[in-house]
Parts: sequence; C-alpha cells; structure tokens
Amino acid sequence: MEKSRAQWGSKIGFILAAAGSAVGLGNIWKFPGRAYEGGGGSFLIIYLLIVILLGIPLMLTELSIGRASEADIVSAFHKLGHRRCAWIGWVGITGAFIITCYYNHVGGWVLRYVFGYILEAPTIYSDSTGYFYAMLGLQPDGTTAFPWAAILFAAVFMTLNAVIIIRGVESGVEKFNKIGMPALFVLLLILLVRAVTLPGSEAGLRYMLSCDWEKVSFSTVLAALGQAFYSLSIGMAIMITYGSYLSKKENIARSTVTICAMDTLVAFLAGFIIVPAVFATVGQEQVGKGGGFAFVSLANVFEQMPGGRFFGIIFYLLLLFAALTSCISLIESIVSFLTERFLLQRKAATIGVCMLMFLIGCMYTCSQAAYPIKGIWFDAANGVTYPAFCDAMEYLTDRLMIPICALGCCIFAGWIWKPESAIAEIRQNRVRFGLAPLYRVLVKYLAPLAILTILIMSFATGMTLS
Ligand code: PHE
Repeated sequence: MEKSRAQWGSKIGFILAAAGSAVGLGNIWKFPGRAYEGGGGSFLIIYLLIVILLGIPLMLTELSIGRASEADIVSAFHKLGHRRCAWIGWVGITGAFIITCYYNHVGGWVLRYVFGYILEAPTIYSDSTGYFYAMLGLQPDGTTAFPWAAILFAAVFMTLNAVIIIRGVESGVEKFNKIGMPALFVLLLILLVRAVTLPGSEAGLRYMLSCDWEKVSFSTVLAALGQAFYSLSIGMAIMITYGSYLSKKENIARSTVTICAMDTLVAFLAGFIIVPAVFATVGQEQVGKGGGFAFVSLANVFEQMPGGRFFGIIFYLLLLFAALTSCISLIESIVSFLTERFLLQRKAATIGVCMLMFLIGCMYTCSQAAYPIKGIWFDAANGVTYPAFCDAMEYLTDRLMIPICALGCCIFAGWIWKPESAIAEIRQNRVRFGLAPLYRVLVKYLAPLAILTILIMSFATGMTLS
C-alpha cells in the first residue's frame, strides 16, 4: 500500500519554499559574473527571453508532473509515461547531487564572510581580493596552502543542512523565508543605491545597459540557458519533488509566474549592484572569473557606506539563509528519492549522502586556487580540454545535465504524457489557464527545439566561454 505523502502546510508555504529554493547563490554569486562574461545588456535580454519562453513553461511542466504523479523523481516518469523515460529523473537527480557537492562549499564561504565581517572587516577592506584568495589557500606572496578556512566552514554549513533535514524543521525554514526574503530584497535595494552612486560605477552601469552582440555566441546562449534553469531550480527535477507535495487546490500557473518573477528580479538586482561595484573598485580585469564577484567587489561597497560593516554582516547572513533554503531543497530531493526508492532510513541516508557530497566538494574548493586539480571536457570545436576541476563541475551540470534533463521533461510532457494531461493537471479545481494553447506550442515544439539547437550548436562551436 502506498503511504500518503507529506503536503505543504499552506499555500504561502509552498510558494515560499519554492522561491526559497530558486533564490539562492545562483542569483547573487553566479548571475552577475555570467552577465558580465556574456556582455552585459545582451546577456540580460537573452536571459529574460529564456526565462519567459522556456523557464516558465518548464517549471509549470515539472510541477504538474510532480503533482499528477505524487511520486519521486524517477517513479514519476514510470507512473505517467513509460519505463524508458526514467532516465530523465536519473539525470536530474545526478545533476542535483553534483550541484550540492559544490553548493555547500560556496555556502561555507558565505558563512566565512559572515564571521569575516564580524571579526575583521578592516582586513577585508584593505585587500578584498587577497582576502578571498587567502580563504581559498592562495597567499598574497603566491604560495599555496590547504584551504582550511573554506573547508572548515563548508563542513559547518553542510552539518547545518543535515541537521535541518533530519529534524525536519521545514516549518522553521518557512517562517524564516517569510521574513528573510523581503529583508533580502530591501537590503539589495539599499545596496543598489550605494553601488550605482560609487565614483567610477557609471562604466559598469553602462556596460550592463548596453548590448555587445559581438560577445554573444552559442556558448553565451547556452550559459544563459543553464544559468536561468539553475537559478529557477529547474532541469533537476526538483520542482517535481516539490510538486508532488502540492495540494490539488493550488493554482500552479500563478505560483510559477510569481516564483520566476521573484527569482529574476533578485538576479537582476544583484547584477546591477555587483557589476558596477566591480568597475568602481577592484577594476574589471582584477577578479579573473565571475566567481569572486560577490565576495570581492562588495567589500568596497560596504567600506564606503555608513554602517557598512553592519550591512555587510546582514548581507552575508541573508545570503547564507538564501543559500541554506536552496541547499535544503537540493538535499531534500536527493534524500526523499533515496528513502522512497531504496527504502533507506532518512537519518542514515542524509548523513551518508551529505558526507559524500561534502568530500567531493573539497576538490571543488581545492581546485579554485590552491591546487591544479583538473577536470576533463570535450566539444567538437576544442576537442578534449582540461579545465580546472571546479569549472568542469559547473560546465557538466549547467551546460549539459540541466539542459538535457529539461529537454527530457519537454519531450516527455509534449509527446509522451501529452500537453493535454499537463493542462488538465494545471486546471484541477477549476483553475483558469487561458494560455493553454500557447503552453502547448511551447512545450511541444519551441522549448525542445530551442534547447536541442542550443546544445548542438554549442557543442559544435565550443561549449565553454573563454
Ligand atoms: N536555484 C538555486 C540558486 O539559484 C540553486 C538550486 C539549483 C537549488 C537547483 C535547487 C536546485 O541558488
């Protein structure tokens, strides 16, 4: 007999949990760097189009698959379609696993910065780039050391996640989201004002507002696609898990639009804070890769505002919680999959999988600056290449697994389960869904064709940006 599944406590509880999953490090740590690498304004336009034309229909599809099947990620495809579709769920869950490996480490860096601002803000101000790299094991004199600080804080962050998941204090997380989300938003608005009024920031603002189409290649579009899906938490079948806990009364079409709008707004705000701040302070060439933007460039914003240290602490605390709610959604879907499918005990599964992910993540942190650990990559234009392990991990998930899982979901909903079934699911409880004809076209033709074309063309012309 099937046991009854858990359900969200309230409507707002679901939206907050899903938004909590979506809004995270992706928006603040990844997005600004990607937007910068993708040429500013041109990237923003491509990103927005992808969110509207692909992101929204895809989130809707995942939520309806989840709610209709009321099953775990892999069984959902069995139940509604065909045995052979289960690979889509497997790609999703593997992607979620790999992402969590590094996500928890970046969460650890954020925790490090909370303490950094409490204890030694002047040290951060005096050399923000050096401080960031020292955390990752690269000393100012060029020597390297084991990145103890980063690893230790990642361990604490992961433990925090595990405890929350084992205790099942989701209600606490829900409560936090109710305050934390609006607070993060307000703080971002304050930082925006400070960042764009810093002397020297106009160039960055101009960069974000102007389109440089020469910089745009298929690889840029793929990066935008991967970033958009990553940021919305789709293409990893997470929303299938969340949808499976959802009551039939919920209007999933409306919730989807709300979640996507909130997520994109936060990402754009972060972009317009961080990129101008980078131009105004450390200079655009200094921070080699986008990864350090959220840590390095903001130091100068805080330094040059009244109560900066206080705002710094609050900012990293809020970012920490945003990261926590996203990380929890990732681990939760992995754990619920393991417990439902392999009948593992929840506590043992959580501890085991968290430890494994933390350990793999150590290679991510170590390969940032301290050790030359390499990954492997292949595309038709460049052949076999050996990017840094940390980059390879992100390419693998953002540029390959997420788009492939998303493509699988579209093909599944468009051709096997059929859009009519998804639409019927969305219309449960007499919900109005006027855009159903548009949805049908998007999920059946446009989304799969677009994702497939972008993937193939990027593979042919080079999948990495530099
Ligand atoms: N969307 C989250 C973020 O932007 C990350 C995430 C990805 C969470 C996939 C869950 C699933 O940070």
